[in-house]
Amino acid sequence: MKVDGKPTRTIWLESDGHTVAAIDQRRLPHEFVVVPLTTSDAAADAIRSMLVRGAPLIGATAAYGVALAMREDASDAGLDHAYAKLIATRPTAINLKWALDDMCGALRPLPAEARVAAAYARAAAIAEDDVAINQSIGRHGLTLIEAARAAKKPGERVNVLTHCNAGWLATVDWGTATAPIYQAFDAGVNIHVWVDETRPRNQGASLTAWELGHHGVPHTVIPDNTGGHLMQHGMVDLCIVGTDRVTASGDVCNKIGTYLKALAARDNNVPFYVALPSPTIDFTIDDGVKEIPIEQRDAAEVTDMTGRTKDGRIETVRVVPQGSAVANYGFDVTPSRLVTGLITERGVLLPERAALAAAFPERVERR
Ligand code: MRU
Repeated sequence: MKVDGKPTRTIWLESDGHTVAAIDQRRLPHEFVVVPLTTSDAAADAIRSMLVRGAPLIGATAAYGVALAMREDASDAGLDHAYAKLIATRPTAINLKWALDDMCGALRPLPAEARVAAAYARAAAIAEDDVAINQSIGRHGLTLIEAARAAKKPGERVNVLTHCNAGWLATVDWGTATAPIYQAFDAGVNIHVWVDETRPRNQGASLTAWELGHHGVPHTVIPDNTGGHLMQHGMVDLCIVGTDRVTASGDVCNKIGTYLKALAARDNNVPFYVALPSPTIDFTIDDGVKEIPIEQRDAAEVTDMTGRTKDGRIETVRVVPQGSAVANYGFDVTPSRLVTGLITERGVLLPERAALAAAFPERVERR
C-alpha cells in the first residue's frame, strides 16, 4: 500500500542485506517511524512490545528473527535457542508457530554455513507469499462485497463493519479483512467501513482508520459498543474481520470483542465473514474456546490512554481510578456456528473441518 504516495510494506530487508526494517505501530497514528531490527533479540522485542502486531506480520517478523539469529549462531543449538525465544513472545496467533516451524524445517537439514543465506531467502519468501495470499483473499472477498452491492438500490453504499486491525499493517501488505475492501474501493464500489475503535489498544481507531484514510476509503470510527445498534437499523451489510487462529472445525479466535459482534450479526441476519491466510489455521485443535491460549496483557493498556494533545504533544493519561482491578484479555473465540464463511486464498469456505481440509489438504497431512 502507499504512505504519502510511496509504496510501503510493514517489514522489509534493507539494502545492506541483513538489517530488517519495520514500521513502529505503537507510534501510529501520531508518528510514522521505521525501526531497524539488527538482532534476534530486537525482533523478539518487536513482537512482544507490539512494535509489530497482527497474526501474519508476527509470523513474518519471527521468520526474519530466525534469519537474524542465524547471523549470531547458525548451529543447531542456535536454531533451538532462536525458536524458544521467538515462540515465547505472544501466545495466541498461530502464525508465529507456523513461521518458526517452516523456518526450522527449511534450515535444520542444511550445514551451518549455508543457513544464513537460506534463512533470509526463506523469510523473504514467507513475506512475499503473504502478499500474494492477501491479494487472493481480496479477490474472493470482493465477490461478497459485489453481491452485497447488487442487493442494494443503485447508488446506495455498501457498509462493512470491521474489528481491530486486520489491515495491511497487520500483514506484510494488503491485509486480510481489508484486502476485499481495498479491491472493492479500487474497482469503484461505493463502500464505507464502520471501524470499531477496539479498546484497549485502539487498533481500529489508531491503525485501521489511519490506513483506510491513506487509501481514501470512506470510513467512520465507532465506539466498540455501537455495532449492535447499527445492525438493528440496517446500517451494516456485512462484517469482515481477521483472525489470529482458526481451529480445524472453524472456530475463530480474534481480538477481544469479535464474539459480541458475531452475536449481534447473527441476531440481525448480517453475514459475518472472517478473512484469513491458511497459516492461520491450526489443524491440531477443534474447540477454540477450550484449546486456544488467550493472551492476557498489561493492565496499563486499560488504565492508560495515549494521544496527541491540542498543542501537539503526545501524552499518556490515566482513565481508571487508582486501586480498581483491571482485566485485559487480548482475544476471544467466536464459535463456528456464528461464522457465515471463511475468506481464504483458495475461496470462501464454510467454517467446518471438511471444507478446510478439502481446501488445504497439505496442511492437514503436514501435522
Ligand atoms: O493484538 P493484535 O493487534 O496483534 O491483534 C490483531 C488482531 O486481532 C487481528 O484481527 C488479527 O491478528 C488478524 S490480522 C490480519
